Amino acid sequence: MSAKTTSITYAIRPATLGDAPALQRHCFSTQSLEEVTDYLRWCLRQRAQRRVFRLVAEVGGEAVANAQLTLRGPVAEIGSLVVAEAYRGHGIGTALITTLTDIARQHGAQSLEMGVQAHDERVLALYTRLGFVPHHRVESRLVPGGRVLYLRRAIGGDELQQQ
Ligand SMILES: CC(C)(COP(=O)(O)OP(=O)(O)OC[C@H]1O[C@@H](n2cnc3c(N)ncnc32)[C@H](O)[C@@H]1OP(=O)(O)O)[C@@H](O)C(=O)NCCC(=O)NCCS
Repeated sequence: MSAKTTSITYAIRPATLGDAPALQRHCFSTQSLEEVTDYLRWCLRQRAQRRVFRLVAEVGGEAVANAQLTLRGPVAEIGSLVVAEAYRGHGIGTALITTLTDIARQHGAQSLEMGVQAHDERVLALYTRLGFVPHHRVESRLVPGGRVLYLRRAIGGDELQQQ
């Protein structure tokens, strides 16, 4: 998939191991290149078994955004959604979510879940616009505020019954 916005052209494609340096630089600068590479390698192994699908958005030959889908039976989860700061607000986050939604649907998932730090109003606004609604909360000492809000969206046939 490729798209043009007012100022940038990007392409959404599956991640490859060669994306690690650009992803570390643009999206995961608090992690080392080794950490980013190791996790990417793990994702690609899971991809071979159709459990994890990791996508990047490429601009000018460099991966500047990342998101992944984890398949777990009827409920799939989108995680690690990051768009490099300089490229936000151009529809890349929306395109990544839309593409992963299609992949989840093709693999038989009935619902799609995303976790968000409950106080992040702009991120919440984006997900609400895409049809996600609050589903449950999980306490976590790993995030500021200590709580992750999980949002869900039904993506199968009978959308209301599957929420
Ligand atoms: C959230 C995020 C992935 C959105 O990506 P994006 O490419 O900017 O999203 P889109 O262009 O498709 O949509 C823009 C919408 O995203 C939301 N948004 C959240 N944070 C934003 C930011 N810093 N800049 C721009 N949009 C942001 C807003 O709802 C915005 O709509 P608005 O312009 O009407 O306020 C991106 O801002 C990001 O990487 N943020 C930091 C990491 C993060 O919070 N990830 C989500 C974890 S749950």
